[in-house]
Amino acid sequence: MALIVLTSANGSPGATTTALGLAMTWPRPVVLVDADPTGARAIPAGYFGGAQLPTDHTIVDLAVSHRQGTLVEDLPRMLMPVPDSTVQLLAGPLNHFQARALDSLWEPLGAAFKALERTGQDVIVDAGRLGLEGFAMKLLTQADLGLLVTRSNLPALVAASSWATTLRESFTRAGALDCLGVLVVGPGKPYDNREVAKVLGRPVVASVAWDAASAEVYTYGAKPPRKFETSPFTKSLRAAVQSTRAGVTRARAVLGVEVEGSLR
Ligand SMILES: Nc1ncnc2c1ncn2[C@@H]1O[C@H](COP(=O)(O)OP(=O)(O)OP(=O)(O)O)[C@@H](O)[C@H]1O
Ligand SMILES: [Mg+2]
Repeated sequence: MALIVLTSANGSPGATTTALGLAMTWPRPVVLVDADPTGARAIPAGYFGGAQLPTDHTIVDLAVSHRQGTLVEDLPRMLMPVPDSTVQLLAGPLNHFQARALDSLWEPLGAAFKALERTGQDVIVDAGRLGLEGFAMKLLTQADLGLLVTRSNLPALVAASSWATTLRESFTRAGALDCLGVLVVGPGKPYDNREVAKVLGRPVVASVAWDAASAEVYTYGAKPPRKFETSPFTKSLRAAVQSTRAGVTRARAVLGVEVEGSLR
């Protein structure tokens, strides 16, 4: 399996929308994890149109499982199927207070995700904004691919560049700098991916085209606009899936990670 973690520095660049879009476009079963410590529950509130999900099947319940020594066994039954897809959602904390309980979970949860390998599932995590209390740093630095999500304008890049320095240091300390990349939402508005990579000091692994109406399908569960399936947005998501998978394979090859049972 591959563990892919999306995070952002500032200004809601589209991490949640992109994580869900990638998961819904992924070519094989995937677990989508809401690890945003704000407790925003953006996917149930947005894509699911406010549908009530069970409050006793969340990532916080896995913190309890971890304390009881049953994390790996309990993980599969905490997952909720996303209709019309092969995506399963691990719901996030119900509020920001709960996220405090997650600090000791992130490291073992990374290992538990790796144990999902037997079931042939990849894992895509929306970690929310860097720097928040309860942020999943120990999950991010275990990722096969950690993606700093940013837009391509100057304020976004200024905010992202400060965090890019911190992330480069953290991944370097973990011996995994090759596992850190950038995902651009709205490339060329105005800076192109080459310029973004130069500013952030890491390659742009993937980018998703700017299209507010199409993005709202994943952000708010909006009705797909005309020609959604063939839109530049959807095509760019498909390309982003391919380049993300290729990024995982590349990082693993550099690090000499065993690829059996992983991305094929
Ligand atoms: N490719 C895109 N093109 C245009 N708009 C987009 C795109 N992706 C996301 N958006 C829009 O950007 C806004 C923020 O998206 P989203 O909530 O996914 O960001 P986020 O990074 O998860 O924010 P937060 O840090 O608050 O969790 C939403 O209105 C969403 O529809
Ligand atoms: Mg979000």
